[in-house]
Amino acid sequence: STVGQVIKCRAAVAWSPKEPLSIEEIEVAPPKASEVRIKICATALCHTDAYTLSGADPEGTFPCVLGHEGAGIVESVGENVTEFQAGDHVIPLYIPQCYNCKFCSSRKTNLCSKIRLTQGRGVMPDGTRRFTCKGKELFHFMGCSTFSEYTVVADISLCKVNPVADFKKVCLLGCGVSTGYGAALNTAAVEKGTKCAVFGLGAVGLATILGCVKAGASKIIGVDINEDKFPLAKKLGCTDCINPKKFEKPIQEALIELTDGGLDYTFECIGNVHTMRAALEACHKGWGTSVIIGVAGSGQEISTRPFQLVTGRTWKGTAFGGWKSKDSVPQLVEQSLKNEIPLDQFITSELPFEKINEAFELLHTGKSIRTVLNV
Ligand code: APR
Ligand code: ZN
Repeated sequence: STVGQVIKCRAAVAWSPKEPLSIEEIEVAPPKASEVRIKICATALCHTDAYTLSGADPEGTFPCVLGHEGAGIVESVGENVTEFQAGDHVIPLYIPQCYNCKFCSSRKTNLCSKIRLTQGRGVMPDGTRRFTCKGKELFHFMGCSTFSEYTVVADISLCKVNPVADFKKVCLLGCGVSTGYGAALNTAAVEKGTKCAVFGLGAVGLATILGCVKAGASKIIGVDINEDKFPLAKKLGCTDCINPKKFEKPIQEALIELTDGGLDYTFECIGNVHTMRAALEACHKGWGTSVIIGVAGSGQEISTRPFQLVTGRTWKGTAFGGWKSKDSVPQLVEQSLKNEIPLDQFITSELPFEKINEAFELLHTGKSIRTVLNV
C-alpha cells in the first residue's frame, strides 16, 4: 500500500510561464491533517489554466502543477479526515466549502474564504507544499492541481460523488459546465417564459443555455462571432443564434430590436469587457439583468453610462455559478447521470495525459469545446 508513503508518479509540470508543460516524474507527499491524497483519473483544460500559463495571471506561482477540472479516487486521507476514505470517487473544488466562515454562513454567496490566501499563494492551508520534482518544490494551483496522476487537496476542497459516474464526463463539473449552468439557475435565477441571450458559445455559454432551458426560458439567443458554434448551441436549446459581425449596428441595438425592447437576462461568457457592456445594454429597461461569467484580463475595466442602471438594469457577476460547492457538485453529478446535463456533448476530444500540450493548442484554436485527458 502507498498509505503514508511518498508516491512517485507523472505530472505535467509548468516550470515557467509561456513554456510548454513538461511531463516529469514527481514526488507527492502523503496528506497531512485535514487533507486528502487523490489519484486523478480524468482532467480537462480550462482557460484559467492557459491564462496562468501565459504569465498574465498576477497570482501565478512557478514552478507549479496546473489543472482544476478533474475527477478521481481517494488514495489516502490525513489525520482528522472522517468524511472520505480510500476508494471514494471525488471531484476537487477550487472554491471550497468549509461550512464555517462568514461566506459559508451566508445564503447569498458561495465564496468560501477559509483557505483563500494560501490557495492564492499556491500552498496548502498549513503554508507548505506536497509536490517535489528534481529536488525542487512545486506550487499547487487553485487548491486542485489536477495535471498529475496524484494530488493532495484540503478536505474542504473536495466532494464525494456517485461512483457510477464516468470520470471523463464529470470532471467537467469541476469548473466550466457548473459555472454556466449555475449562472442561469442561481445568479440570474431565470424565470419561466423569459427571454435570454448568451454571449459566447464555448463550454461556459453552452452550459448557460442548459440552465436557461431548465428554468423554462421561452427565447434563448446565442451570440458568437464563430458560426461553427451555432449547431451545438441550437441542439442544446438556443432558439436563435446571431453573429455580431453580420450587423452594421452594435449588437445590443440589434438584440433590442429583435426582442421588442431587450432581454430579461443576458450572460457574458467570453471575458471581453466590450461584450460585457453590450450584454448589459441589451437588457430590457426596468428589469433586465446581465451576468458576467467570463474572466477579463487582469487590470481591465468595464464601463457603461450610469443611465443604463438608473433605468432599471442590473449588472451582476458569478464565480462557479454561485454553487455552494460541496453541497452542489454531487447533485450536479446526479443530474448528469439522468442526462439533464448532457456532459458528453461538451467533449470534443479525448487525449492521453502525455499529450497535454496538444490539448492546450486545441484550446487556443477555438475549435474545441472541451478536451479531456485520460490520466
Ligand atoms: N463576440 C462574440 N463571441 C465571441 C467574441 C466576441 N467579441 N469573442 C470570442 N467569442 C466567442 C468565441 O468564438 C468562443 O466561441 O466566445 C466563445 C468563448 O468560448 P471558449 O473560448 O470556448 O471559452 P469557455 O471555456 O466557454 O470560457 C468562457 O469563461 O472561464 C471563463 O476565462 C474563461 O473568459 C472565458 C469564458
Ligand atoms: Zn467557508
